[in-house]
Amino acid sequence: MSKIDDIVSLCKRRGFIFQGSDVYGGMAGTWDFGPLGVLLKRNIMNIWWNYWVDQRDDMYGVDAAIIMNPRTWEASGHVATFADPLIECKECHGRFRADKLVEGATESITTDEFLAAKVKCPTCGKMNWDEIKKFNMMFQTHVGPVADDNSIAYLRPETAQGIFTNFKNVVDTIYPSLPFGIAQQGKAFRNEISPRDFILRDRECSQMEIEYFVKPGEWEEIFEKLRAEQHDFLENVIGLPAAMVHDFEVPAEDRAHYSKRTIDIMFDYPNGREELMGLAYRTDFDLSNIQKASGKSMEYRDKVTGESFVPHVIEPSIGVERLVMAVLSAAYREEDLEDGDKRTVLSLPETLAPYKFCVSPLLKNKPELVTKAKEVYALLKQKYTFVTWDDSGNIGKRYRKQDEIGTPKCVVVDFDSLENDDVTVRDRDTTEQIRVKISDL
Ligand code: GAP
Repeated sequence: MSKIDDIVSLCKRRGFIFQGSDVYGGMAGTWDFGPLGVLLKRNIMNIWWNYWVDQRDDMYGVDAAIIMNPRTWEASGHVATFADPLIECKECHGRFRADKLVEGATESITTDEFLAAKVKCPTCGKMNWDEIKKFNMMFQTHVGPVADDNSIAYLRPETAQGIFTNFKNVVDTIYPSLPFGIAQQGKAFRNEISPRDFILRDRECSQMEIEYFVKPGEWEEIFEKLRAEQHDFLENVIGLPAAMVHDFEVPAEDRAHYSKRTIDIMFDYPNGREELMGLAYRTDFDLSNIQKASGKSMEYRDKVTGESFVPHVIEPSIGVERLVMAVLSAAYREEDLEDGDKRTVLSLPETLAPYKFCVSPLLKNKPELVTKAKEVYALLKQKYTFVTWDDSGNIGKRYRKQDEIGTPKCVVVDFDSLENDDVTVRDRDTTEQIRVKISDL
């Protein structure tokens, strides 16, 4: 099995991530987070919010509605341009993203370039292709009881527009000084032609986005500052190895319609280097378009100079699932043991691990050990909340299970604990065991 298969299997086996609607045979491009996955995902989202919003004086949060007035998506350019190149096989009618079938191709691939690559249909093996068509990725729905052209609405394809449409509300209620940012976390929906690579390309994903509003002349300096802060967050706070994180300057022809400069921060996933997040200079594209479409001023009045202007925007945007996958890929390892057995370890940073401690009695059928272990469990639970109890199987099996789910420390109560009021604390990464007084835990 490849490393990616091993991670998918671990995620399913240990309750991190399941295929969406599994019980009905699944729903392509959707994933459900199980009990441990929710803990990991929430830790990541909370740490992001804490770093980018709570700890700063220049960031404010919003939580906007997912279904927005459809004029949002006309003004933002998504109705006209949020499309991927779709190619259909005329033999089997399989539909694919054209750029994903040609090595090194980008989303702007033309039919001629596609045909020149002499690609065979991945489903039927024939080479009889239709023209490339642009396929809009927004999910349409209807609002209200009548499903006609007047009731069309979209599930938001990015959380960003819920920030832009609230720009004036935030300015008029909080009176922030430029530069400042508005942050949002939430679901985004994209009708991807070919969802793939486990949770990397989904039809329903969660984004964590910031729109950072700046004076037009100051964008370059602030872009570099935000870029350095992204690396600090990813490498020093989330703990991704710096050697696996790379900046990619996106060429003009591949940038989103709103961007004048984009750096994609890429990560070395087990299947190869892929985009983890984007940092884009969106100019005043969004606010100016909202101003035109709504007739409402999006200008900001400088408190010192009194000058009014539409701010420019720098946007760091990251998908939660891509960050979860980066964290899992960096943490997953297998070790061959001397007895020929194998140990699977998720070396998650303590801050991200679903549980910080696992408490066990050495033997489950000795009531005095169980009682003492329950006392230790209650003590740690009160202090650290994310503590689990395990008295199944033998101690070796329990360690293996906790290693696999990334629990940093296992605490075991044995017969000596009854005499000395101490426990064994075993470290996940080194497997080293030390004795610690219960009062010192
Ligand atoms: N507001 C800008 C924006 O949405 P994007 O590059 O399309 O830009 C930003 O998406 C981030 O959202 C990506 O870098 C990625 O982390 C995540 N993302 C986008 N599409 C995704 C998908 N289909 N599945 C999972 N994550 C996705």
